[in-house]
Amino acid sequence: MYKIWTICFLLIAFFAYSSWIYTDATNYGSTMNLKQSEGKRIYHENNCQSCHQIFGLGGYLGPELTTVYSDKHRGEAYAEAFLKNGGGTRMPNFNFNDEEIDALLAYLKYVDENATSYKVMNQSNK
Ligand code: HEC
Repeated sequence: MYKIWTICFLLIAFFAYSSWIYTDATNYGSTMNLKQSEGKRIYHENNCQSCHQIFGLGGYLGPELTTVYSDKHRGEAYAEAFLKNGGGTRMPNFNFNDEEIDALLAYLKYVDENATSYKVMNQSNK
């Protein structure tokens, strides 16, 4: 009799804990504000990742963008020029409006600000 109750208790505890883990416990939320997450959405909607990498993920046709924002040879104005006009022969001009460019820059800034360990690993970016 004792054992049955113990097993029942363990089963219930297991299912309760599992459902918590798979729902609430892994919902960390995001530290991005609205503008930054709008930029992230635009980034993915336009498949920027097919040519660019962020944190090592993405294509190799274009330069990596993790630290483009703070890179002393690139930076905000440089990135903005590419977003406004496209660049070279391979970076397309997406004809973004000012708001979209603003959001994309906010997203790239956010990525850069959160790339602390990435910057340590890639000292050459400094
Ligand atoms: C077809 C491939 C391709 C796609 C898609 C693409 N890019 Fe690019 N991008 C490039 C290439 C290639 C360059 C470098 C051009 C040059 O230096 O002449 C570049 C340059 C840039 C730069 C300047 C950074 C640097 O180091 O030169 C930024 C910022 C950038 N792209 C952002 C984006 C964003 C944001 C998107 C999506 C909206 C995007 N790109 C989509 C190919 C692409």
